[in-house]
Amino acid sequence: MARYEEASGTLARLNPVYIPGDEIPPGDETARLHRWGYRRYREMFNDRQLLGLELSCRVIAGQADEKIRNALATNLSDLLRYQNMLCRYDPMALKSLDIFSVHGFPVGLIQCESNLLGIPDGRKGSNVGSGGWSNIISKYERAKAYCENPFEIRHQGGRKKIVPVKGEWIGEKRFVSNMPEEKSVELYCCSSTFSGLPPASLDAVMTDPPYFANVQYAELMDFCYVWLRRLAGDNSGVFDKSSTRDENELTGNIIMERGLSHFTEGLAAVFKKMAAALKQGAPLVFTFHHNTIEAYLPVAVAILDAGLTCSASIPCSAEMGASIHINGTGSSVIDTVFVCRSTGSVSRHIIVSRPFAGHRDSVSELVGDSLESAIEDVLTRAGISYRKTKRAERIAGFDQSPDFIIPSEFNPQVVIEMNLEHRLRLLYCHFIYAILETFGGQSYTVNAVDHGFGGFCLEGTIILVFLSLF
Ligand SMILES: C[S@@+](CC[C@H](N)C(=O)[O-])C[C@H]1O[C@@H](n2cnc3c(N)ncnc32)[C@H](O)[C@@H]1O
Repeated sequence: MARYEEASGTLARLNPVYIPGDEIPPGDETARLHRWGYRRYREMFNDRQLLGLELSCRVIAGQADEKIRNALATNLSDLLRYQNMLCRYDPMALKSLDIFSVHGFPVGLIQCESNLLGIPDGRKGSNVGSGGWSNIISKYERAKAYCENPFEIRHQGGRKKIVPVKGEWIGEKRFVSNMPEEKSVELYCCSSTFSGLPPASLDAVMTDPPYFANVQYAELMDFCYVWLRRLAGDNSGVFDKSSTRDENELTGNIIMERGLSHFTEGLAAVFKKMAAALKQGAPLVFTFHHNTIEAYLPVAVAILDAGLTCSASIPCSAEMGASIHINGTGSSVIDTVFVCRSTGSVSRHIIVSRPFAGHRDSVSELVGDSLESAIEDVLTRAGISYRKTKRAERIAGFDQSPDFIIPSEFNPQVVIEMNLEHRLRLLYCHFIYAILETFGGQSYTVNAVDHGFGGFCLEGTIILVFLSLF
């Protein structure tokens, strides 16, 4: 306690430059902080942590080399996650858990404070626990080493095998035998809905979109952003806003009044732009998982609106079942990698004739029936009289008879015709439902190739899910 008091006294004598004074704005996730009485971000740290962070910022700001300054600022944002009073101790892993370990702001009754500098373990060459500068810097070094020699991990007989990706490297410039090699890397800090990519210019798009309202990214990121903004103090415009919140963020958010239609329209806008920027037949690959079936509807709509077809869906491990992020939440332990491609134009007879006509008709009929009964339900509950036509019925005055005439064909005020596109949209949703219902929360092994069929091996049973019918 004496040491803590000493740190408190030192902080009181400092004139802090980098400790943010920002208030915590209201939000779906920050509401929890308000309920616990936190009004400003700085209240989430104790005095000793504030002193350590302020002094760290001063050292970083004093670095002459911009690259080193920026690298250290990146490390500071990682450090912040561990140097605050919302961190808890994980008695199984014997280390502190960072503030975002459950992708939210959970407030625990017992906090855990990590040593600011970290405790290197000389014998093992690693660091004790988590959350100190030495831990964060080691992580950064590993990331940089990965950029120089990227690899994949293959699981073989219960063991992990590192498979180098030969010839690959991540970065702008490197030297091989003293000869420079360069790559052009462009980073944009903006909403993907505004990308200005040239048409047919991309070989692939790989993305990891938000999972509807699962995580409030901006509300969480503001916790680090308010510090970085003061530290960066730059004129690039990147830190102009006082918050990372943005009306174009593609997340469901009750306070920001962003619902499923915002998410759907946004995702469809991004997919459309990416599809236009992809070369013909090149893949748009994305991961998605959610334990609410409705969150998959926007994905189906976005794929269809972009004129793409799903050529494979590959289940893979999401965060581990025992992970603190999802343990006990009922979330899926399975992520799905969706591979989509542009299809070009397809003549009508391919869709309606062999070999898929049988599948198409039977599924389309099912979807049509459920759509019709939903419409009947709505009209009946609203007390509206209607006439539902029979299949292939001829109605005078109509080339093709509508599905519903309100109130009747003798005095038609409104006609309802369900066109194929709506049915197709629903159809896709049904396919996605099928996959989810089949795999939700179960263990699996994967045997899938990108050829139009997702082949999944589930507890010994092979199930083929036909995805690219249309
Ligand atoms: C599932 S996370 C991706 C996480 C990332 N793969 C990683 O490992 O850190 C989704 C990301 O999409 C970002 N996002 C949300 N709306 C966006 C938009 N309109 N444009 C671009 N990115 C957006 C979120 O801020 C979040 O970082």
